[in-house]
Amino acid sequence: MNTGRIPNRVKDEGNSRELLENLRVILDSIDEGIHVVDRNGVTVLYNKVAAQLDNLKEEEVVGKHILDVFPSLSRETSTLLQVLRTGQPICNREQTFTTYKGDEITTLNSTLPVKVDGKLVGAVEVSRNITLMREMAHRIVDLQVELFGRREGRRETESEGARYTFRDIVGESECILELKRKAARAAASSSSVLVYGETGTGKELFVQAIHNASPRARGPFVAQNCAAFPEGLLEGILFGTTKGSFTGAQDRPGLFELADGGSIFLDEIDSMPASLQAKLLRVLSEKCVRRVGDTKVRRVDVRVMAAMSRPPLDAVAEGMLREDLYYRLNVISLGIPPLRERREDIPLLTAHFIARFNAQLMMNVKGVSDEVAHLFSVYDWPGNVRELEHAVEGAMHLLDGDIIMLEHLPDNLRNLATHRESRPAAANLRAGGTAPRVPVKFQGDFRLAVADIESSLVRRALADAGGNISRAARALGIPRQTLQYRLKKLGIDPKVAQAAKSTRA
Ligand SMILES: Nc1ncnc2c1ncn2[C@@H]1O[C@H](COP(=O)(O)OP(=O)(O)O)[C@@H](O)[C@H]1O
Ligand SMILES: [Mg+2]
Repeated sequence: MNTGRIPNRVKDEGNSRELLENLRVILDSIDEGIHVVDRNGVTVLYNKVAAQLDNLKEEEVVGKHILDVFPSLSRETSTLLQVLRTGQPICNREQTFTTYKGDEITTLNSTLPVKVDGKLVGAVEVSRNITLMREMAHRIVDLQVELFGRREGRRETESEGARYTFRDIVGESECILELKRKAARAAASSSSVLVYGETGTGKELFVQAIHNASPRARGPFVAQNCAAFPEGLLEGILFGTTKGSFTGAQDRPGLFELADGGSIFLDEIDSMPASLQAKLLRVLSEKCVRRVGDTKVRRVDVRVMAAMSRPPLDAVAEGMLREDLYYRLNVISLGIPPLRERREDIPLLTAHFIARFNAQLMMNVKGVSDEVAHLFSVYDWPGNVRELEHAVEGAMHLLDGDIIMLEHLPDNLRNLATHRESRPAAANLRAGGTAPRVPVKFQGDFRLAVADIESSLVRRALADAGGNISRAARALGIPRQTLQYRLKKLGIDPKVAQAAKSTRA
């Protein structure tokens, strides 16, 4: 390929050949199989991964009609031909087949129409090999079966799966105390619970505490992240599969059956595809599950608790959470504010984590230096309590003495405080509210103060712009690229900043 030299005058033909070559290199370097056909169903592009998946060579496929190459397909069953006929995409379809070597492979395919000026000119199929992921999905269920099987008969004290109780939730801020009271009341019932809060705010902690304080405490606690698997696999994990429902499927219970008598925690529920949300809703209202491919329904008695990182109504408005499911789940709702909105808990949490790691690492750390305490009190904590926990843990691994100092902190935190004098300015500024005033005279760390002001302004602009970077940049009167650079530098996630506004409301 002609990469080093750019010719001044190239004929269209040469140009498009070069483009095609570029495209081919790109296509061969990605992990998905790509198969492109023209409007007649003749293959124009076919990359390495696609050739591997189909066990064919590129030259056996390119320039030929699909039905001439894949005799097992027909006009009706070929997804590419179907898309050429209807112009409609077919998304995330799972397909399991056996290779000539006898290996069983599962792919997740999306087939999309290609249009130029609104006219259909071809179709492209993208295939992802999810065989490993499918094995992991099965393994999750097998491990849970093993876990509950082994523990059968000794369910006196602790619940399977859930470690935390309300005693483990540290915090004296009014919002945490109120949340604990609300959650304790929730524990008495079997109603669904919907928890929302930024990452690391303690959603799972609350959910486990509710389970352990509930009459189901001796039953199982099963957790599943809904963003981790594509639809078909997730359905199998949650509801179970039957032998023969698809190639390679085994008779397996789903997590709902395993959680019978206990609770199930569905994290990142807004990542669950809408059609599966509909099935979940049916399970919740009928209290029965049907394994994939089964005709039989099985009664299950499971309490459902779900979590997401943004306000549920936002997810409903964006079509990520079905409204009917939202009403079904939101019987009890807990919104956990980010750590920066309950700063009075920071010293308590810091002491709590130091005590915990003292015990774990057999150390005797006494506390943090004044500088660190101050930095902790003004920092924004985008990763919330989890970030604080990791900062303390990381520091304790580096420590020789018995006080955590600035130099033991992770870079992003330490960079906010490069000077070693006390710096009341930033704290004062912050205490002044979200629209800080620059004091006429101040002593302290200029850079920390500036970073702090900047961070507040940027977060406010993002929150007001609903997380939209372009709009926030316009409001701030700076180019979009500049804002993007500043976000990176300040460690601000626009989505999180947007959620911050709504949790506050
Ligand atoms: N209020 C709290 N008290 C003590 N530990 C907490 C608190 N909130 C969060 N944690 C700890 O922080 C980490 C992240 O909490 P987790 O519940 O997993 O957050 P989320 O599910 O919201 O991402 C966990 O190790 C948890 O034990
Ligand atoms: Mg979590």
